[in-house]
Amino acid sequence: MPSKDIYALAREPTETERLNAQNLFLIDCVGYILHHTILSRLPPAARICDLATGTGAFLASLSKELPSNTQLDGIDYSDAAFMPEEQLPKNVRMTVGDAKVPGTNEETGLYDVVCIRFINAAMVPEDWAKVAERAAAMLKPGGALQWIEADLLQLATVLRTHPKASTVATEQATARAMSSTPHASWFVTNLASVLENAGFSQVRRYVSSTDRDVEGRLWMTKIAIGAQYALLRQQVMSGAEGALTAEQVEEAKEAMEREAEGGMYLRADMHTFVAWRK
Ligand SMILES: C[S@@+](CC[C@H](N)C(=O)[O-])C[C@H]1O[C@@H](n2cnc3c(N)ncnc32)[C@H](O)[C@@H]1O
Repeated sequence: MPSKDIYALAREPTETERLNAQNLFLIDCVGYILHHTILSRLPPAARICDLATGTGAFLASLSKELPSNTQLDGIDYSDAAFMPEEQLPKNVRMTVGDAKVPGTNEETGLYDVVCIRFINAAMVPEDWAKVAERAAAMLKPGGALQWIEADLLQLATVLRTHPKASTVATEQATARAMSSTPHASWFVTNLASVLENAGFSQVRRYVSSTDRDVEGRLWMTKIAIGAQYALLRQQVMSGAEGALTAEQVEEAKEAMEREAEGGMYLRADMHTFVAWRK
């Protein structure tokens, strides 16, 4: 039975565009698509699955780096953001599925690598073990997991590049948006032990900050504003208590964009967990 869809961001065309931009930014920010410890041990004709794949942009980027006989499978709860089939590389296959429920017998032990990126906004604390167990079951013994999450609560700390930069509109909008994801930092202290309990060993974490490269600050800030916008839109659509009106959400987005041009910026730590199936 599928789990309840509690994903906090709206699935809309603007959000699809943001996910594609975010894909390129993230690869640039962490400096790799697949961590070098996984890449160096990848077998020939590897089979890789991206759980909660969104648009499939991650797999499309991966297909450019890896031999064409690599099989790349994407699974997401919803196909609303899937790239059209004709735009996807031939070795990418997308299917609808729920990462929080046990997988099918066919996928058990099928994969050399399972990737997960940014499922945080769909998670409450007890979900992490469910997704970790699904990923562990999908992997061959000795297979690798790469799980990347952003510490989203850090987006509530609004920064400025100079003392006079205005941040008020972003502080207000961010506080409202982030009320949808109260557990957004839970994984920071808990995911490593969740992975160990799910059957992984050699769990390592590599952290990079999105403002590692100063040039990337505005780019990241615009992506983060897009995320706040998607959270606020979802609050409107679900009739959440205290939600802004649709018009106020548009105004908040414009005000945040003005502040970003004037020196306000947002950042977050990106945590890459690499773990190996026992
Ligand atoms: C922020 S997007 C990230 C997409 C992609 N991983 C990326 O990095 O571009 C989160 C994705 O998780 C998906 N999702 C949420 N809950 C899910 C679940 N229970 N099972 C599978 N996918 C889920 C959403 O539909 C959405 O596409």
